[in-house]
Amino acid sequence: MRRIADLVPAHVLSFDSYVPSRPDDVLMRQYGVDRLYRLNNNENALGPPPAAREVLAAFPPERGAVYPSGDCFTLRQALGEKFSKDHERFLVGNGSCEVITSVIKAFCQPGDNIVTADKTFAVYEWVAAFSGIEPRLAPLRDYALDPEAMLAAMNDKTKIIFLCNPNNPTGTWWSKATLERFLRAVDGRAVVVLDEAYIEFVDSPDFPDGMEVMERHPNVLVFRTFSKMYGLAALRVGYVCGGFEAVDFVKRTHLVYSVNSLGQLAAKAALEDDGEHIAATRRMVAQAGEFLRSTFDSLGLEHVSGAGNFIMARVPVPDTLLYRLLIRQGVMIRTMTGFRFPNWIRVTLALEPAMEAFAKALRQTLDKR
Ligand SMILES: Cc1ncc(COP(=O)(O)O)c(C=O)c1O
Repeated sequence: MRRIADLVPAHVLSFDSYVPSRPDDVLMRQYGVDRLYRLNNNENALGPPPAAREVLAAFPPERGAVYPSGDCFTLRQALGEKFSKDHERFLVGNGSCEVITSVIKAFCQPGDNIVTADKTFAVYEWVAAFSGIEPRLAPLRDYALDPEAMLAAMNDKTKIIFLCNPNNPTGTWWSKATLERFLRAVDGRAVVVLDEAYIEFVDSPDFPDGMEVMERHPNVLVFRTFSKMYGLAALRVGYVCGGFEAVDFVKRTHLVYSVNSLGQLAAKAALEDDGEHIAATRRMVAQAGEFLRSTFDSLGLEHVSGAGNFIMARVPVPDTLLYRLLIRQGVMIRTMTGFRFPNWIRVTLALEPAMEAFAKALRQTLDKR
């Protein structure tokens, strides 16, 4: 009889599985607190827009017995209308994380590689690694993705370049000109994924809109999500959009029926009712950003932020220790060691009570040292 481990490919044997945090109620019991501010996942503290709330409240329980649309037909039509594109150019996944796997499966085989940054959203690197595809990681320069380093990391086995714009966790972003220069240099040698998970938080005319860029570059694919600005993280809805040809290949490796009915309905409603919601969320994020930047300044802590609903700070204690000290005071932050930023933390920009609770807990913790 063979050992189970003998059946497992080397790239899976060497991969450490990710351990997500425990559910809130378990953590609250474990750390003895009766409230927990979640500032670890860049969720929108305002929740979903009103129209999506209505859909969630009105979902008929009988629909629980019925399979969803297998290819998110109606939601894709709504996306097509919103962005003035044919709905066949959209594929919806169980969060944009699922779409990452579909794209890697569509374009890569063993021996190929993907290029991304060393300090960015790590799922591109992880999916490549556990699929037996080499992740090539270009170092950041001044906390931003470095176009030269990314080009230098490419070779003739590079199939996909993942650009997180704006970058999680640093908030830096490439301008229209930087992206255009980069795409010209890539010259169609690889698929370029623009992960625009935080685009709705950006308010600058110089920020490149991937939906427009893809019309000039058929090798560009854009990822977006309903988890951040649209406040629907629990329902897991994200999507990819691109040219007909590229999307048609991704469709072959993309699971059908992976997006539930409630998620499809709520995402469509959110999309159609986003104006005031986006404005209100941007106001909340701007106010929280101002407050936390001055908090970190007053504590003498280096911090980095840009676009997106998050801010990073360098802390004078191990980030994992600080996580435990803060959670005992009801505040959950993201440790950054896993992002290759040891002794940094990332904090979601949220409503005033949460920001004040975090600032108070941080001050008390650092004062005691
Ligand atoms: C840059 C980036 N892309 C994708 C995701 C995942 O989005 P989803 O919830 O749609 O899987 C995140 C979530 O943190 C993110 O930060």
